[in-house]
Amino acid sequence: MSTGKSKTPSFDLRAEELPANIGIIMDGNGRWAKKRGLPRQFGHRAGAKTFRKIVKHCEARGIKIVTVYAFSTENWRRPEAEVNAIMDLLRSHLKESLLDFKNENIRTRFIGDRTPLSEDIQDLMAEAEASTADRTGMILNIAINYGGQDEIVHAAKALAAEVKEGNLSPDEITAAAISSRLYTEDQPPVDLILRPSGEYRLSNFLIWQAAYAEYVFMDVLWPDFTEEDMDKALMKYAGRNRRFGGV
Ligand code: FPP
Repeated sequence: MSTGKSKTPSFDLRAEELPANIGIIMDGNGRWAKKRGLPRQFGHRAGAKTFRKIVKHCEARGIKIVTVYAFSTENWRRPEAEVNAIMDLLRSHLKESLLDFKNENIRTRFIGDRTPLSEDIQDLMAEAEASTADRTGMILNIAINYGGQDEIVHAAKALAAEVKEGNLSPDEITAAAISSRLYTEDQPPVDLILRPSGEYRLSNFLIWQAAYAEYVFMDVLWPDFTEEDMDKALMKYAGRNRRFGGV
């Protein structure tokens, strides 16, 4: 049985063979622009287009949760013009997201520390979350000012405060208790981490949630990434033998 529309002729995976939860590191925008003699910002603009296309494709394939790495806690170290360009893309995506994903049953959420972001972006984020909250389809987590270590520190502080207030005993600090205090809260673990661009790193992305994830690295820059590439990644995942520490 095929799931959703077929972009790849040989794509014929059953729903249970698909990863339910995918993390995508949208890497290679800068190199894509450089290859064309363009400023890096143009790469991010092309990357934002790919993001919209691939998110829709994942939804059509029946994926339950997709998390994209849009801006990390370390990305503030980039030149100011590049940071501003990414924030502008985010702003315009948020303003247009209702149009972009108008016909999609996608619920948008954001993970990361929003407090250093400009107020108008924070407002747009809250609006996008509220206006899609009742949707029942795929969850799209957009990671902004997100870092896996920062997320765990945030959860540890929340647990410490609860213990201090007498609402939690130290014995109740379990893996499940930590998971439920991460930005991803009640979401299941990540099944597949996908990183295009030929780099083989996790870069502080979903480090807790991806403890037993499969990794697919592809040698294509994110702006060039196609629906067929996504299908290839799903097929690679389906061919893996996941053992979760067992035999
Ligand atoms: C990594 O490539 C990409 C980023 C740090 C930014 C990703 C942002 C977008 C795709 C656009 C905005 C997102 C949304 C949700 C609208 P890189 O710049 O590190 O590439 P390089 O390794 O080739 O330099």
